[in-house]
Amino acid sequence: MTEPGPAIEARGITRRFGAVVAVNEVSLDIPRAQIYGFLGPNGSGKSTTIRMLCGLLLPQAGTIRVLGHEVPREAEALRRQIGYMTQKFSLWDDLTVLENLRFMARAYTLGTERSARRIAAVLEEYRLGELRDRLAAEMSGGQRQRLALATATLHEPPLLMLDEPTSAVDPQSRRDFWESLFALVARGTTILVSTHYMDEAERCHRLAILSEGRLVAEGEPATLMDGLPLHVVEVKTGAIEAARRELHRLPAMRSLAQLGLRLHVLLDNGVADPAGLVRAALSAAGIDAEVLLARASLEDVFVAATLPRAAAGTGAAP
Ligand SMILES: Nc1ncnc2c1ncn2[C@@H]1O[C@H](COP(=O)(O)OP(=O)(O)OP(=O)(O)O)[C@@H](O)[C@H]1O
Ligand SMILES: [Mg+2]
Repeated sequence: MTEPGPAIEARGITRRFGAVVAVNEVSLDIPRAQIYGFLGPNGSGKSTTIRMLCGLLLPQAGTIRVLGHEVPREAEALRRQIGYMTQKFSLWDDLTVLENLRFMARAYTLGTERSARRIAAVLEEYRLGELRDRLAAEMSGGQRQRLALATATLHEPPLLMLDEPTSAVDPQSRRDFWESLFALVARGTTILVSTHYMDEAERCHRLAILSEGRLVAEGEPATLMDGLPLHVVEVKTGAIEAARRELHRLPAMRSLAQLGLRLHVLLDNGVADPAGLVRAALSAAGIDAEVLLARASLEDVFVAATLPRAAAGTGAAP
């Protein structure tokens, strides 16, 4: 049953809206039966890319193959093989849980017997049994996400595209949601998911980071963190504002963020002794501080990959 090649192959796909280049020559290889994450600031092109991969939006350049089908030419053949959760919520508010599921079962023409079997299965799997007669409009955010995943998986598609499925959902519900995703992957489903949460991104098998429509980083989360081409330094001091001012003066400084009582600093990796450089700068200004090298986090990878291009080369303060 396993077909060769990646689930999704995109080469140089581009989409403009007027003067805006929403997606700019993006190429992707998304492996089968894994979770592939899309990260990127607001407006970086995640949703636009997903809509092109689904065949809902035409690229102006480039080629797409999804599950062996050419998109958009063979998009119709793919319709039943993809489950798509849009970023803007796609449930019928004035229908109950059961009515939403029955509606989708009809849309997918599942037939009476399979509809009944699949609806029973997803009610159980996504803990919706007791909510079956609740109107979608009257469900909590996390319950709605469960129903949305239930409707997206009702027809057992081998490929799921989930556009920010867990925005505004509490941490425990997000964990539960991700456990459901891993259960689907274990059964062979390929999942493409966009997110703004670093903890979710870290759980993906692979990630793509988009910035201003371009693919700026791609790989396994651990590889991206280990390969960050910047030094990470942490500074603990009682004089945090003074330290911040001094560090902004360093030409090698790329990014600075306060985490509680610490400053988290990214420095050019051309610097031979980053902790020494920071210690010397602070001590020259009469600031007492503890300075330590730190491991890069995925957030550091994200920040480094999405630094505005103008600031990336100058060390300018944000
Ligand atoms: N239908 C449209 N018409 C005009 N411009 C659009 C349209 N859809 C997207 N854009 C523009 O394309 C760019 C990319 O938008 P997109 O929605 O793909 O970003 P995103 O990464 O999904 O952002 P977010 O994290 O906010 O969801 C933005 O500048 C957006 O304004
Ligand atoms: Mg979006």
